[in-house]
Amino acid sequence: MLIAVGSGKGAPGATTLGLGLAALWPRPDAALVECDPAGGDLWARFGHHPEPGLSALAAAATWQGPIPGFFRRRLSVGADVVLAIPGDGAAASVLTLADRGLEALRQAAATATVILDVGRLDHRSPAVALAAAADHVLLLAAPSLAQQTQVGARLPWLSHALSGKLWLVGVGDGGHGTAELSRDLGLPVIGTVPYSRWGASVLSGQLRIPNWQRLKLARAVRCIAAALCALEPEPTEQVVWRATGRSAVPPVITSPTFAGRRREAS
Ligand SMILES: Nc1ncnc2c1ncn2[C@@H]1O[C@H](COP(=O)(O)OP(=O)(O)OP(=O)(O)O)[C@@H](O)[C@H]1O
Ligand SMILES: [Mg+2]
Repeated sequence: MLIAVGSGKGAPGATTLGLGLAALWPRPDAALVECDPAGGDLWARFGHHPEPGLSALAAAATWQGPIPGFFRRRLSVGADVVLAIPGDGAAASVLTLADRGLEALRQAAATATVILDVGRLDHRSPAVALAAAADHVLLLAAPSLAQQTQVGARLPWLSHALSGKLWLVGVGDGGHGTAELSRDLGLPVIGTVPYSRWGASVLSGQLRIPNWQRLKLARAVRCIAAALCALEPEPTEQVVWRATGRSAVPPVITSPTFAGRRREAS
């Protein structure tokens, strides 16, 4: 599954949510790719060198299968991340990835979960092409008039550009505000992210708390991950007969969504 996480304006916590999803995904197959054209933050927050990361991945562009471990870093919160360099120099890599690496990204997402942090979406952003290829796009917005109008102003071109499903993620308030925002924008809500100083500090590398997965932010992120997993199509098994020479060999059972778990029937 290919998931894009972004925002309209401001810093409502897209990177934090993307990292949380990668760390708390129900299966151990998730990776976050920092595709924010404004540059990556996680290398500095977690004290890793940002290379080889997004730039190298975009340059390679034609890898096959899951994103190779060479480009990924395992952060202390347990998430695998392709880091991006700081500054708008990252935009060139985002552009290259969107231009030449979309097919590889989609293939990686066919057998694993790939989460893209696409940053603040505006119509000139090269990350829009990545968001456009995602199965689900999560747009974070706080229930304020300013955020509502910022997201609302983007919806006409954004909903037109995307091929996947666009979801609203409420920020800071779990209830009425997000419901109103959803109604006014006409966007379905996939979850809400509560304000959590401790949770955000863990996900920005400032704090290490044992059992941080029990904090309210982590619980909310897990709910969003579970909601997304529930939207995954059921793996339907297809039997593919392979003919080799004179005799047919036993069928290979393949599943479109979990093709990596291919097993041979005896
Ligand atoms: N749920 C939250 N509760 C409290 N603080 C949060 C929460 N989410 C994020 N923060 C804090 O807000 C700041 C911005 O978060 P983050 O970098 O995730 O936002 P962003 O939307 O990715 O911003 P940008 O668009 O600049 O990349 C960080 O200091 C982060 O720790
Ligand atoms: Mg960010």
